[in-house]
Amino acid sequence: MLDKTTIICRCEEISYEEIEEVIDQGARTFDDVKRLTRCGMGPCQAKICTNLVANIIHEQTGRPLHKIPLPRMRMPLSPIKLETLTTDSTSFSAVKSVLDEVELEDGKVR
Ligand code: FES
Repeated sequence: MLDKTTIICRCEEISYEEIEEVIDQGARTFDDVKRLTRCGMGPCQAKICTNLVANIIHEQTGRPLHKIPLPRMRMPLSPIKLETLTTDSTSFSAVKSVLDEVELEDGKVR
């Protein structure tokens, strides 16, 4: 069960209460919530919070889930290194993700 202090967008630390407030102000889509709170602008690019926000909009407004549009996606779709953007290569294998350098130890990021 979610309470008002539950963090919905972990990347931007946006709580349930903050999302509820912008819905009260008229937000009806994920992009509306994003513009008003920064929810979805974090490193995961809304992969974690999209469905949670859609469910809150549904609960608060009664709008059917299938009528709540998906967030507008922008390039890059995953976090990449700036050096990837500065190379002339168009090869997919040349794309260096910041996740390539993440080292895990016992399932946790070191
Ligand atoms: S959890 Fe919302 S942008 Fe990552």
